[in-house]
Amino acid sequence: MRLRNPSHSRIGVYARMVNKQFVKLCYDQYQMNHQGYHGFQHWARVFQNGRHIAHQENANTKVVDLFALLHDTQRRNENRDPQHGYRAAKYAHSIRGKWFDLSNKEMRLLDEALTYHSDGYTDADITVQTCWDADRLDLGRVGIQPSAKKLCTQTAKNAINNYCSIGSRLCPV
Ligand SMILES: [Fe+2]
Repeated sequence: MRLRNPSHSRIGVYARMVNKQFVKLCYDQYQMNHQGYHGFQHWARVFQNGRHIAHQENANTKVVDLFALLHDTQRRNENRDPQHGYRAAKYAHSIRGKWFDLSNKEMRLLDEALTYHSDGYTDADITVQTCWDADRLDLGRVGIQPSAKKLCTQTAKNAINNYCSIGSRLCPV
């Protein structure tokens, strides 16, 4: 019996999308300083928040992982950049199949999560809600405690009750 080449199996494609090379691809896409508010450290916390919420809410972790790494890659400034979510979605479509594999349904969820992530919506599929909450839970990095009214999932709402201060930062514990 011949073993299938793992790089051509669905597991192989999934492994490729969350590996070091994919992280580097996203890292190199970012045109600003990673030490700023929307750089790599933020993505890592969104990734961690996303995994936590996804497991509690049964959301699709493939989509949530990709959202964490891609959502701010196309930002061009630290302040108001209303098109950055749309550009991130466009970028995701351009690398689908080469760097990651999602079904059409999953891709629609990723597209929606990326495109509208900074528009304040709360009504969506649980996977999209998980993406948005993972990002919003990291508002503590700029000293803002997320409001339960602006969060989508019960898991994220529960998390803000346990925020603690570390210097000027607020972190879920
Ligand atoms: Fe973000």
